[in-house]
Amino acid sequence: MALTLPVHPDPLAERLHSSGILFELAHGLGGPFHYLLPERFDANLAAFRTALTVAGVEGRVYYAKKANKAGVFIDRCADRGAGVDVASLGELREALGHGVRGKDLVVTGPAKTPALLRVAAQQGALIAVDALDELDRVLTLDGPRTPRVLLRVHPPAQPNSRFGLDAHDLDEAMRDCAQAPDQVRMEGFSFHLSGYDTQQRADLAGDLIDLCLKARVLGLQADRISIGGGFAVDYVPAAAWETFLDRQRPGDYHAAKTFTAADFYPYHSPVAGADALAAVLASGPHGRGPRLADRLREAGVMLLLEPGRALLDGAGASVFTVQGVKDRDGYGIVTVDGTSLSLSEQWFNSEYLPDPRLVPTRTPPAALDPYRACVAGASCLDSDLLTWRKIAFRARPATGDLLVYPNTAGYQMDSNESPFHELPLPPKVVIDHPDDAGRPRWRLDR
Ligand SMILES: Cc1ncc(COP(=O)(O)O)c(C=O)c1O
Repeated sequence: MALTLPVHPDPLAERLHSSGILFELAHGLGGPFHYLLPERFDANLAAFRTALTVAGVEGRVYYAKKANKAGVFIDRCADRGAGVDVASLGELREALGHGVRGKDLVVTGPAKTPALLRVAAQQGALIAVDALDELDRVLTLDGPRTPRVLLRVHPPAQPNSRFGLDAHDLDEAMRDCAQAPDQVRMEGFSFHLSGYDTQQRADLAGDLIDLCLKARVLGLQADRISIGGGFAVDYVPAAAWETFLDRQRPGDYHAAKTFTAADFYPYHSPVAGADALAAVLASGPHGRGPRLADRLREAGVMLLLEPGRALLDGAGASVFTVQGVKDRDGYGIVTVDGTSLSLSEQWFNSEYLPDPRLVPTRTPPAALDPYRACVAGASCLDSDLLTWRKIAFRARPATGDLLVYPNTAGYQMDSNESPFHELPLPPKVVIDHPDDAGRPRWRLDR
């Protein structure tokens, strides 16, 4: 039996797919493209803000820009007064250029360049300091504004993380900040954890509140903590996901490729997005004492968060045109007009698992059995597979049909793209008001 992983029903996407606009765009743009639904971003942002309000917590959402290169999402942040998490000078420049104010930026990432530190300080951005030598560089900045910093904490629960300051370095950093009040404004602490465990986040957030109280004794401001990103996205329903993990075998993939469950993103999460934030706030750090929300309030500590993927849930998809289909040993190889660089999981020896949707040029005759096929890119590399899995298509795809990979805005669509083979980078098309009566309107993302 073929394993299927259909995404949760999305009536808006279905309407788009049946509207004919995707064929027009594929024709006009002459290659693969991504479409973006910024209204979904707005809804996700609003849900995170509501979770803060409902928990009675003062907080701020910073969109982690690394999750997608499009301008439209930072436009939305600027319009809605949301913050942006940037991790390079290029991202900082983009955010400012789209109207985000310097004071609404948090600058993360390791060993920031002198240019990034200088501009961040001049713009009044919050700098998450990752190491003692970086703090030294901040302390010697000679600009018109006092740099604002958070001290990033090395997570004890993830000892192999290369990020953050350990307990010893934190003590030294706090002392350095306390001794240089004119050179630095120490506003608090931060972390970012791998994975999606809500209790781990509540535990470390509790520790950061304690650190704030300790830092205040030294005369430091220490009135905010950032818990980073890592709010899961729930792509597929539980039953399909469990069946898939249970049954997947090398025979389900082209070239009998093997993947273990640990290779995959957890495509189903029972608690995801803003609900995951609510769960973090409702947990007692280390499973005891008051809820994190209460601890934040009592200590007068503001909660900052940096969701990337979760703000982009449902906010985009990637569209390829079928260039050819060949039959091989009981399954097919569908070749599309782009490469797996537009579906980044392959570059982590993993696979983007939600089923792509076949949008045929004409309604195919009803097939008795699904047609199983993997999906290959238009390059000369044997390893360029968008999907190694033999997907169960309702009918044999035909040249000119479209394949829509759903929900790719968070990290999948563009983080690894390159113009390999001189293929143009897939443009991004913003669909503004897709649920207005009549045809959806589109524009290119700038
Ligand atoms: C410091 C920091 N903040 C936020 C994020 C965003 O994480 P996510 O997209 O999982 O929410 C990342 C991701 O790597 C990060 O490193």
